[in-house]
Amino acid sequence: MRVAIIGQGYVGLTIAVGAADAGHSVVGFEVNDGLVAQLNSGKSYIEGIGDSDLAGFIAAGSYVASSDPSVLDGCEVIVIAVPTPLDADRHPDLSYVHAASDLISQHVKSPTLVVNESTSYPGTLRKEIAARITGVEHLYASSPERVDPGNIQWGTKNTPRLIGGLTPAAVARAVQFYGSFCDNIIEVSSPEVAEAAKIFENTFRQVNIALVNEFAQIADALGISGREVLDAAATKPYGFMPFNPGPGVGGHCIPVDPSYLAHVANEVGVPATFIKHANEVNLAMPAYVVKRVVAGSGGSIRGQKVVVVGVSYKSNIADTRETPAAAVIDLLREQGATVTWHDDLVGTWRGESSSLIAGADIAVVVTKHDGVSVDAIKACGYVFDCTGHLDGVDGI
Ligand SMILES: NC(=O)c1ccc[n+]([C@@H]2O[C@H](COP(=O)([O-])OP(=O)(O)OC[C@H]3O[C@@H](n4cnc5c(N)ncnc54)[C@H](O)[C@@H]3O)[C@@H](O)[C@H]2O)c1
Repeated sequence: MRVAIIGQGYVGLTIAVGAADAGHSVVGFEVNDGLVAQLNSGKSYIEGIGDSDLAGFIAAGSYVASSDPSVLDGCEVIVIAVPTPLDADRHPDLSYVHAASDLISQHVKSPTLVVNESTSYPGTLRKEIAARITGVEHLYASSPERVDPGNIQWGTKNTPRLIGGLTPAAVARAVQFYGSFCDNIIEVSSPEVAEAAKIFENTFRQVNIALVNEFAQIADALGISGREVLDAAATKPYGFMPFNPGPGVGGHCIPVDPSYLAHVANEVGVPATFIKHANEVNLAMPAYVVKRVVAGSGGSIRGQKVVVVGVSYKSNIADTRETPAAAVIDLLREQGATVTWHDDLVGTWRGESSSLIAGADIAVVVTKHDGVSVDAIKACGYVFDCTGHLDGVDGI
């Protein structure tokens, strides 16, 4: 099939490569010209997609990136994979989804299958995409992306894929497309079910992470190890699922998607109380971390050299979106500390560059990548570990 993927970010590029690998002819449509040039030169920027794989698909003619919207016309499948962030008031910002829909409306003149993979609230495909695209009768399906960047066990091929469509013909076409590179397709009765399943999955994580974050604080105040309690609880072979406490939640999904569910819940008059409280608990974790660091450093960190180790939102990936490291650093600076950060994967971020760990009085480990030197961290005068990976130091 001729396939266009709108948006060549984490999700769009992953799907593009999966489809190219299955033998489809894929064009990655992307508004960022710099990214288009980079991808066409065979340089991936996503963990799990190798430069040689990308270059191979380009050489074989099965993948090309483009910023020319005329490439959309004539494709048999168009997948929307654009950002769905929150606005300044933490409400859904569907402007990218609307822009992608408008591109299809303007440039696609023959009927095609339009699939939305961007995460959003139930009703998005029907009301915000299909209703916006005029002039041509397309098929519409929702297949929310579940990719977990850096996860080597679960990828596009073996992660079960949900599909809901506006019509049986749309479902059949989407099943045919995704079945060519995904092992397990699960049809649901409507796009709204697929959309809601995705945001409920991430809400489940957000709420459970908040629960363990709150519990970690209770355990510390009780003078017991929260992590030891959680490990002990996890020995129960049924009815318990372990989650880890940490400095907060980051990335494009867990801090964001639940607010999409809260938004529609509010519209239908049902208060999403768990989501609200979980947001409060998770967003307060950086302040808790800094409070513990100050307490553990004798009551003040004024004038101390602090290095924050690992600023991406999770280990072994370079993604800094919504990372709690930002708030941890800002709050440490408010306490009068001189704060640098170390993260070889990230390199530069917020106009600053990664610094050495050596020479710091205090190390605060926010994210632990495999390559980081534990010896260098432990050589600092005081260490606070938010990850549970370092023995014999303070932490959550
Ligand atoms: N990152 C993840 O782990 C993940 C996992 C599952 C689902 N999702 C969801 O998938 C969607 C995309 O997320 P992502 O992480 O790939 O985002 P991203 O920011 O990495 O990539 C989005 C890309 O879309 C491009 N773009 C924006 N508007 C465009 C337009 N009108 N036309 C063409 N390109 C456009 C941007 O320039 C960017 O390169 C979001 O809804 C997200 O919630 C993300």
